[in-house]
Amino acid sequence: MNLADLNKVAVAMTAPGKGILAADESTGTIKKRFDAIATENTEDNRRDYREMMFRTAEAMKNHISGVILYDETIWQKAKDGTPLVDIIKAAGSIPGIKVDEGVKPLPNCPGEVVTVGLDKLADRLTKYYDAGARFAKWRAVIDIGQGMPTFSCIHANAHALARYAALCQAANIVPIVEPEVLMDGAHDIDRCVDVTVRVLKETFQELYYNRVALEGIVLKPNMAISGKKCAKQASVEEVAEKTVKMLKECVPAAVPGIAFLSGGQSDEAATAHLDAMNRIGNLPWALTFSYGRALQAAPQKAWSGRSENVAAAQRAFMHRAKMNSLAALGQWKADMEKKAA
Ligand code: 13P
Repeated sequence: MNLADLNKVAVAMTAPGKGILAADESTGTIKKRFDAIATENTEDNRRDYREMMFRTAEAMKNHISGVILYDETIWQKAKDGTPLVDIIKAAGSIPGIKVDEGVKPLPNCPGEVVTVGLDKLADRLTKYYDAGARFAKWRAVIDIGQGMPTFSCIHANAHALARYAALCQAANIVPIVEPEVLMDGAHDIDRCVDVTVRVLKETFQELYYNRVALEGIVLKPNMAISGKKCAKQASVEEVAEKTVKMLKECVPAAVPGIAFLSGGQSDEAATAHLDAMNRIGNLPWALTFSYGRALQAAPQKAWSGRSENVAAAQRAFMHRAKMNSLAALGQWKADMEKKAA
């Protein structure tokens, strides 16, 4: 492990005004997105769609520090034969790779899951490094419900995250540590905070036990937010205040940067929340985005699987990237959304 190099990459991933594009949907997940725009889920369509984003040069250069790729994409070539990884690098952005292999039911914990993929991970990381990846992602999924999450679920997932992170650093790859507490339930924001604090405390404990250097990771957490089905939705200010307070309680200042997942928030809510947090200011770490849906929903719709829509889709991608970039600086304003191209 070269900690200076890892730290340099982690700092670049969360550089001022820049954030991460999570384009690592598995083939099954991207099918759901393509179904919504009546587009066939073929290898070529997946390539064309992602190439459209990676070739949005201004967005990539100015707003996107790194891109999380799925295994298929890291080996894929653009229509003109250029490897997609080279297009990302040419724009000054860093290629990254999702390395977890999804979730499996956790025995003895009905309704709960654990993320898998540690077997042979060391070998896979070497291949990904050679292919240009300088960071990786592993997502743990924690659901809130009656009697959930159990400590068993939190512990198993935190342990796997830490094992993954240690293996990444040994391969000179920065681990994005993503313990996601889902926002799908009917719980209120305070329950989300309570569960997320437990999850983050356990995660950092396991990172410590596994000797992970915090200077060489990026944390990708959920925000403190009301469950989607909760009747009382917290305001933007409450989300920002409670998220910052929660993170200050749990995340050591040695961590260079925190990049949130969007988790099913609307595009504008994800931007407004990030902006409000950065306006609070005086934070020990950079706070930015690592959005999947909140960066891609608009360009996906504009593209709708048609080559004649590429320019419109790139404008939509540019707009969301720019809005989130401003939010990462605490300089976004709601009326900027209306001026969209
Ligand atoms: P969302 O922003 O759509 O939650 O996706 C981010 C991600 O990488 C989830 O693992």
